[in-house]
Amino acid sequence: MKKLFAAFVFAALPALAMGAASNHPLDKVDIDLTDKAALQDGARTFANYCMGCHSAQYQRYERVADDLGIPHEIMLDNLVFSGAKIGEHMKIGMKPDDAKGWFGAAPPDLTLVARVRGNDWLYTYLRTFYADPARPLGANNKVFPNVGMPNVLVGLQGNQVIGCKQVQVVTDGKKQFDPLTGAPITHEACDQLTVEANTGTLSEAEFDEKVKNLVTFLAYSANPVKLKSQRIGTYVLLYLAFFFVFAYLLKREYWKDVH
Ligand code: HEC
Repeated sequence: MKKLFAAFVFAALPALAMGAASNHPLDKVDIDLTDKAALQDGARTFANYCMGCHSAQYQRYERVADDLGIPHEIMLDNLVFSGAKIGEHMKIGMKPDDAKGWFGAAPPDLTLVARVRGNDWLYTYLRTFYADPARPLGANNKVFPNVGMPNVLVGLQGNQVIGCKQVQVVTDGKKQFDPLTGAPITHEACDQLTVEANTGTLSEAEFDEKVKNLVTFLAYSANPVKLKSQRIGTYVLLYLAFFFVFAYLLKREYWKDVH
């Protein structure tokens, strides 16, 4: 029984580490780590909108520039705002203790966050901030309830609010339409997120794309050698296939006289 209890406690530990839990369903995101344009766009968003508070201190600017195909001068002029040199780690000036006082929690380093949280979680988190006057900074989040982070992408996404709206009925994963008129069958659902019209500079699709690119960058950052290891893996398999032919011929030669 004691062992069982201990096992349960250990099994529950990761959930505790995640902080406030939420059962909001996660939206799936399909990222492509070979898409340089997406990675560059994500890096730009990260430098402009996140590095005020979050570092990526296990990553160097130079490495990012080289991996993403960004010339060093362009990197320094457009993505490095701290006066850091190209070879330096992506650190920030904000002190964790100050930040804790301002936001209630220090913004964690984001180099490895994609490994901890997963891409779908990040994609959903960054798109589900909504206005909540009850929170100190006026924003709350669907997958991270009572988060300390303000809604930093509100200018792009627009003001997202929570409320009731008509949504299409879905049964067994299929959207339902009226068989006579062909019109979608809807019902009123509350606790729904809606972006107020004309409050952001991007459309919904454009914003989703922006966030997807940002998640692509964070996924790259959490595992910068992934692409390289996949490429090397291909060579290894090709080599093995090539080697197999000779190994087989040699085997035939050795066994030729054995009856
Ligand atoms: C104004 C400061 C600020 C900015 C700018 C900011 N964040 Fe945050 N962020 C925070 C704080 C504070 C927390 C900690 C929240 C908490 O624990 O309640 C946080 C938490 C997070 C987390 C959750 C980490 C975890 O695993 O607990 C992620 C992911 C994140 N931020 C991503 C981003 C991204 C991506 C951007 C850029 C689009 C960004 N943040 C911009 C302040 C900021």
